[in-house]
Amino acid sequence: MWKPVAWTLGFLATVGVLDATAVIYGGLYNVAATKQHLQPVYTVLEKAMHYSVQRRARKIEVPTGLDTASTQRLGATLYQYACNTCHTIPGITGSQPLVGPPLGGIASRQVIAGRLANTPANMVAWITHPQQIDPATAMPDLGVNGRDAVDMAAYLATLR
Ligand code: HEC
Repeated sequence: MWKPVAWTLGFLATVGVLDATAVIYGGLYNVAATKQHLQPVYTVLEKAMHYSVQRRARKIEVPTGLDTASTQRLGATLYQYACNTCHTIPGITGSQPLVGPPLGGIASRQVIAGRLANTPANMVAWITHPQQIDPATAMPDLGVNGRDAVDMAAYLATLR
């Protein structure tokens, strides 16, 4: 009575292992997802990711003092325009790139990028349109909107 059941289960397990082997060694499934995952796989991965992040985030303590509207806006804008990929900026964590000059102490400098007097208006102009000020500069126009540029200039003005 139990023998056929055991044989059937054994057979199914073997087929399962062979299928898995074919999928893995045949490179059948696009693990790199250069095209989006199939929907069921995507859903499983998405759920697994959410729960695993949730589980690991439980022990993380949120630092205080980060929740003022101005710190959030500032961080968001400097990262949003990727200023930190070229400049080391105090208060903005990440790598320490040296494509552009480090911006620590920029408020104490007389001149912006060796070209403009360091005034708030000129700083906003430089941040929004460096290429119009000097087409040869290595700093690209990043499409910074006026409001964001004013925020950033205000922050840079505190870096004495
Ligand atoms: C692709 C790299 C790159 C990115 C991204 C970039 N910059 Fe620059 N930045 C430079 C370079 C290079 C210079 C030096 C320009 C020169 O002297 O011609 C510079 C100069 C500056 C200066 C003048 C510094 C000084 O010492 O006089 C300021 C201020 C500045 N950038 C702010 C910003 C802000 C704010 C952002 C984000 C909106 C930003 N930069 C994004 C490359 C970059």
